[in-house]
Amino acid sequence: MKKLLAVLLVAMLALSALCVASAEAKTYKVGVSIYQYTDNFMTLYRNEIENYFKTLETDDVKYEITMADAKNDMAEQTNQVQNFITQGMDVIILNLVQTSSADAVIEQIVDAGIPLVLINREPLGDDGDESYAGILDNPQVCYVGADARQSGTFQGEMVAELENHGDINGDGKISYIMIEGDPENIDAQYRTEFSVKALTDAGYEVECLDDQVGNWDQTKGQELCATDLTTYGDQIEVVFCNNDAMALGAATAIQTAGRTVGEDIYLLGVDALAEAIDLIKAGEMTGTVLNDHIGQSHAAVDVAVKLLNGEEIENYYWVDYVKVDKAYAEANY
Ligand code: BGC
Repeated sequence: MKKLLAVLLVAMLALSALCVASAEAKTYKVGVSIYQYTDNFMTLYRNEIENYFKTLETDDVKYEITMADAKNDMAEQTNQVQNFITQGMDVIILNLVQTSSADAVIEQIVDAGIPLVLINREPLGDDGDESYAGILDNPQVCYVGADARQSGTFQGEMVAELENHGDINGDGKISYIMIEGDPENIDAQYRTEFSVKALTDAGYEVECLDDQVGNWDQTKGQELCATDLTTYGDQIEVVFCNNDAMALGAATAIQTAGRTVGEDIYLLGVDALAEAIDLIKAGEMTGTVLNDHIGQSHAAVDVAVKLLNGEEIENYYWVDYVKVDKAYAEANY
């Protein structure tokens, strides 16, 4: 009997200790809205946000993540943000659908007193160049991203570093097609501009055969590349894609057209998706640029946690790109 009582007592003590512990655990509510779940790169990014938040949990601190798909629809995202505000989120992480209409959404969140971490799509001012200094100057708001000028420059440099510098037919100029991402992301404009600039800055002559918007999408990338291969045939020496999803599509189109990467055409992407790395190793893509979704998602979560803890933050956090050609891919993946 005594033994039973002792066991009961121990059990009760353990239970009450547990209650005290759980009563003390603080759960922060985190609202995350992603511009579009079907985006290959943003899928890796959002999964890592969730994984990384989990690794930061302790007995005392928990994070309850509400993740929402804005389905590439700004109205839908505005609704999600309003819901986040009503639900009393402690912090919001936002991958904007439309950077051009960012100010209204940001203002709502700021007015509700909720700290905000913008990711992946940097809102720009009216002149398309200056950041929304007024809004981002807010001590509760920041942007985490990578400077897309660097990724464009790396793409151009990889072409310049080739033995023939991308001039396969030896006519003195590099003839290329450009497949662009959604213009709502400044990455698309910067990559387009700086990939070519790296070549002209190095003194090479370039010729743009076609420049179209593929919206970051693999199927669209394949369609655009296939049409250009039919129209321009052997004239195309370099295919620049603003991201790997579109480059994967272009790789299929190139194969179907009976062309051979590394011999009669070059193909460049950005992101370093696993599928693109495989193609680079197999010689079916010339190169890509690592868009570090791990570094960016961790930086975004770390700054969100700082905001939750009332710590001071910077308004901008930049994560570096890395040039990934065949040698780098073989050595590092
Ligand atoms: C990535 C793209 C992605 C886009 C989404 C870019 O930084 O390179 O793959 O589709 O972000 O906004």
